[in-house]
Amino acid sequence: MFLAHLLRQAGVDAVVLEARNRDYVEGRVRAGVLEQNTVRLMQRLGIGERVAREGLVHAGTTLCVDGEPFHVNFSDLTEGGAITVYGQSEVMKDLNLAADQHGIRVIYEAADVELHRLDTQPFITWTTNGERQKLRCDFVVGCDGYHGVSRASIPGDALQTFERVYPFGWLGILADVPPCNHELVYANHTHGFALASMRSPTRSRCYLQCSLEDRVDEWSDQRFWDEFELRIGTQFTSRITRGPSFEKSIAPLRSFVCTTMRWGRLFLAGDAAHIVPPTGAKGLNLAVADVVVLGDALSAWFGAGDERGLEEYPRRALDRIWKAERFSWWLTHLTHRFPDMDVFDRHMQVAEFAYLRQSRAAQTSFAENYVGLPLEF
Ligand code: PHB
Repeated sequence: MFLAHLLRQAGVDAVVLEARNRDYVEGRVRAGVLEQNTVRLMQRLGIGERVAREGLVHAGTTLCVDGEPFHVNFSDLTEGGAITVYGQSEVMKDLNLAADQHGIRVIYEAADVELHRLDTQPFITWTTNGERQKLRCDFVVGCDGYHGVSRASIPGDALQTFERVYPFGWLGILADVPPCNHELVYANHTHGFALASMRSPTRSRCYLQCSLEDRVDEWSDQRFWDEFELRIGTQFTSRITRGPSFEKSIAPLRSFVCTTMRWGRLFLAGDAAHIVPPTGAKGLNLAVADVVVLGDALSAWFGAGDERGLEEYPRRALDRIWKAERFSWWLTHLTHRFPDMDVFDRHMQVAEFAYLRQSRAAQTSFAENYVGLPLEF
């Protein structure tokens, strides 16, 4: 949807095919942290009003190991840098409303999508309302996620992928209770990772590292809050307001990069090309950064027949992707309990936290990655 808006601003016609319906897209609980690059883009697209009003600007975050918290001040370390807490569901509502106003075509519930002749003159077929449809196009941009049809349409011998699967998951809940801290808290406890996040001053989003074998129904709210209290650190325990969860789910953690981001007239963007573990909140922001690069390249092609941007897209996008992969992988290793960790590994984690706590250089590195590297870093 971001790309559709960027293309519309450049006068390029685009049609968005969406597998689900609009309510699903606007209701799905996903990411919640926007980099300033993302917020600035929303402003540039004319959809920045509500995020400016309702988004919670955080100028820092707290890291905690074995109950000992310390604060990292993004604003001091990165010359005014900050992140904005604003749910992906809200971003989708803003994008969709503006799409209505500008007449951007979004086709919901497009089933059985197939991509054809991607190496020459692409066309797409799909089914809506029981009828097979067909659309010819100059380019196909696969923004259809890790399980989408786009990457799967690239011949196997042309695909290059790299992957790391983590031996744990995240159990997340949403509850209408005030957050235990005004900013996010990332905690490393010997029982495993915990994260205190939020969606608003009255809505908490909390996570616990869990086993991949765990099932949601094994985690009653009581068990969740007991474990959360234990892991998040004594400074915050007394500020936790318990409440019934209205969303509870377990997500696996994965790092994945498909370096084949172009095949003929198909381009991949977002989760279709890369997955990061949620630690560090880079997923949505990275997808947005991809389409900023691709939007410029497509605009130059349609505007002046300039092919260079399209040729450079994979290299330029991957340059940023690998840095975000590194940061999410590093923060996951710093904050989680790995099943094969020995006492030495634990000492390494504790020492890294001690270094971060004391070193402005280390904190600056953390902060500049967290708030988001400049678009062309
Ligand atoms: C969230 O609020 O969903 C969230 C925040 C920070 C993360 C991951 C998820 O690193």
